[in-house]
This record gives sequence, C-alpha cells and structure tokens, in this order.
Amino acid sequence: LKKHKVTVIGSGNWGSTVAKIVAENTRAHPELFHQEVQMWVYEETVTYGDKQDKLTNIINQHHENIKYLPNIKLPSNIVANPSLLDAVQGSSILIFNLPHQFINKICEQLKGNILPFARGVSCIKGVNVSDEGVALFSEWIGDGLGIYCGALSGANIASEIAAEKWCETTIAYDPPPMDPSRNPSRTATPRSTTPNRANDRASELSVTPLTGDRTELQHKDARGRASKTKLTPVPQEYHPLDHDTLWKLFHRPYFHVNMVSDVAGVSLGGALKNIVALAAGFVDGRGWGDNAKAAVMRIGLVEMVRFGKEFFGETVSGATFTEESAGVADLITSSMGGRNFRCAKKAVERGVSVQQIEETEMNGQKLQGTSTAAEVNSFLKQRGLENEYPLFTAVHNILEGKNSVDDIPDLMMKGRL
Ligand code: NAD
Ligand code: 13P
Repeated sequence: LKKHKVTVIGSGNWGSTVAKIVAENTRAHPELFHQEVQMWVYEETVTYGDKQDKLTNIINQHHENIKYLPNIKLPSNIVANPSLLDAVQGSSILIFNLPHQFINKICEQLKGNILPFARGVSCIKGVNVSDEGVALFSEWIGDGLGIYCGALSGANIASEIAAEKWCETTIAYDPPPMDPSRNPSRTATPRSTTPNRANDRASELSVTPLTGDRTELQHKDARGRASKTKLTPVPQEYHPLDHDTLWKLFHRPYFHVNMVSDVAGVSLGGALKNIVALAAGFVDGRGWGDNAKAAVMRIGLVEMVRFGKEFFGETVSGATFTEESAGVADLITSSMGGRNFRCAKKAVERGVSVQQIEETEMNGQKLQGTSTAAEVNSFLKQRGLENEYPLFTAVHNILEGKNSVDDIPDLMMKGRL
C-alpha cells in the first residue's frame, strides 16, 4: 500500500514540537509514512550571535528552530520550507498548527492546491466567530478546503513535550470511512487503540458516485448537521487514514494519545480554556493565592461545559471536558504555566496591558486567549447571553479596561452559576 506524506503547516513553539513528534514517528513507521516531514515556515530573518539568516536555512542546517523552540534538536527528516504550496504538494496528511489569527489567509492559499483526498488534523486552539456563529477550526478548515479535518488538543505545554517530559493528549477524528466499498454497511465505527471514553458515536454517511472513479461522501459535522463538505475518499492503494494510522503518527513514549470522536468537545476545550487561563493569571498576579485560582478554574470549567452543550449540544460530550486531556487537564496546566496565564499575571503585577506584555516578552509568540475572549464575547453579546457566562465576560471586560481584577468576586456573585 502507498505511504502517506505528512506536512506540518506552522513552525512556532507548538508547531515545531509537533513536527518533532511526527518526524520521529515517520521514521518509526516507514511502512505507513514517507520519512521526510515538510514543515511550512512563515519566513523571517533571524539574528543569532553576530550572524543573520533566514529561519528556514537555520532550521535545515542546524536542525533547531532557534527563535520559537530554542535548545531542542529537531530530527533531520524535518524539512523547513518557506513555500506553502510546495510544502503541501503530494501530502495526504496536513497538520494545521498556527496561531488562529493566521489560518484564514493560509486556507485561502491552500484552496485547490492540496490533494483532494487529504485529511487534516488541527492543533489550533481557538474558535472562528463570524455573523453565522461560532465555528471550530477543524470544521472551518475542512469546509474551506473540502477535506475532513480532526482536532488534536490536550494539556500540552510545548516546551515540556519538546524536552520529552511525559504528558497526554486527545485526538478527535470522526470521518466517514475512506472507502465505502470496504464498508458496505455505510456506517463508520471509529476505532481506538486506547479506550475511547468520550462520545464514541458512529457517523452516518451517504455515498454519491461521481463520474470516473471518484466518489464523494456526505458526512455530519461536529453539530450533527449534514456537513457542507463532500469528501473524496482516500484511494484504496493508500493505507487507510483511520484512528490506528493517526495514533501511530502522533503517539510517542512521552506523548500519550487517546483517540476519540468528539471533535467539538476537543476543539472547544482547547479554545475556551485560554480565557480561563487569563483569569487565573489575573487573580494570581493580584496575589490572591491558590484558592482564588481554583475558583476561577471551577467556574471556567462550568462555563466551558455550558457553552459546549448550548451551541454544540447535538454531539459534544460533557465527558470530553471532565475526563479528557483536552478538557480539564489542559485547563489546569494552562492555568498554572501557560503563556496566557503568565502574561496575564505579569500584566497585573506591572500594571500594564496583557497585549503590552505579549509584544515585549514573547519574542514573536502569539497569545490565543485575548482574541478568543473578544470573539466569544461578541458571539455571546449578540445573543444577550453575557450574564450566563460571567467569567468569560469578566475576562473580556478586564482586557478592555471596563472592569478591574478586583471586580471579579462581585461579578461572579452576580452571575448565575
Ligand atoms: P507561536 O505563538 O509559538 O508562534 C507564532 C507563529 O506564528 C510563528 O511560527 C510565526 O512564524 C507565525 N507567524 C507570525 N506571523 C505570521 C503570519 N502573518 N502568517 C502566518 N504565520 C505567522 O505558535 P504556536 O505555539 O506553535 O501556536 C500554534 C497553535 O498551537 C496555537 O493555536 C496555540 O494555542 C496552540 N498550542 C500551543 C501550545 C504551546 O505550548 N505553545 C501548546 C498547545 C497548543
Ligand atoms: P498557552 O498558549 O497559554 O501557552 O497554552 C499552551 C497550551 O495550550 C497548553 O496545553
């Protein structure tokens, strides 16, 4: 059977770490994957010592991303590529790993320039809010590119994983079967190599034969609605792109993967916990100690579950938030040591805005919580639901200077938790 070529789109702190993980695994599973992993890099010139060079040259020569993941040796089978279209050429597995504010432009460039049967995995933590509502990046990428896209998220602070310190992650992947003729019942039952605790539902699909040897599959999106995306099946000559194959691409001895089907829960967990991590940073920066931090984490978790149930109720599973790495574990680690937490804490300690800290202290790394707080707030406000989500609302209002951290206890009392 034909092997899959893998491209990681993005090369920041997490993008480079995920490229390291998958490049180790393409070497470990040569029967399934081409060894070389393409990594698309947003090109920039980097100064190091008394030298200057393009970041792609530095990565390819020294096997280190000295700007976004310094002091970590990258496998030599990672090829840093400044050309997006060249990096994705011939790739059947696309791993999206960018700050969410940049994905729109990337998808515009990719449209029509990828393999029609490619499959995606989004490692992006954020949501896309528009007039139509709130969309998951996995869905949004899938609809935009006409492919199926799952989601990877977990308690995954990149620097720890890059140093190969053990952790867990969750991958949600629930496409219809690649090849309908291998599944005459036309019902996909996702397979897990580890127990699939959260919402392991079977997808239903209908199959529309096209002219020639192509077939399009209609499937359901994370809300349980018929998806706009008509999928091109992975050709039979390829290894199936199922839970087993993805597990082998991502699982490492130091990075334990649990495969599930709840794409909405996994994606929302990763996005919404960033708002809560900012709140944890605010109260910690104010010197209120661990009890206050635990209080905002509890309230935040309640709001995350409520949001999932309210807007993705058809498919989202509460268990994803409470039992998966992508839920409560990510909330905890992000509220103890994530960048959103650290920047919010410093901002309060120094009496400056979080954006100022991001600009001066992050060396080009991007926070996701500040824009997610604004996007979620605009979505809730439009629906008159700000009071139902007092913590999410308080975080946005603190970022906007409309409330102060000292208001948090009162604002939580007035909320309806
Ligand atoms: P990062 O914040 O470390 O780096 C920023 C990246 O954005 C760099 O690769 C930079 O080259 C790129 N960039 C800058 N301007 C750009 C532009 N105009 N167009 C395209 N790219 C541009 O990024 P990251 O940590 O890899 O984050 C990617 C995603 O991973 C985010 O959604 C984040 O929430 C998620 N995530 C991060 C971590 C972590 O610990 N870093 C862990 C889990 C998930
Ligand atoms: P930050 O972007 O706040 O560092 O969060 C990292 C993360 O998502 C850990 O799981």
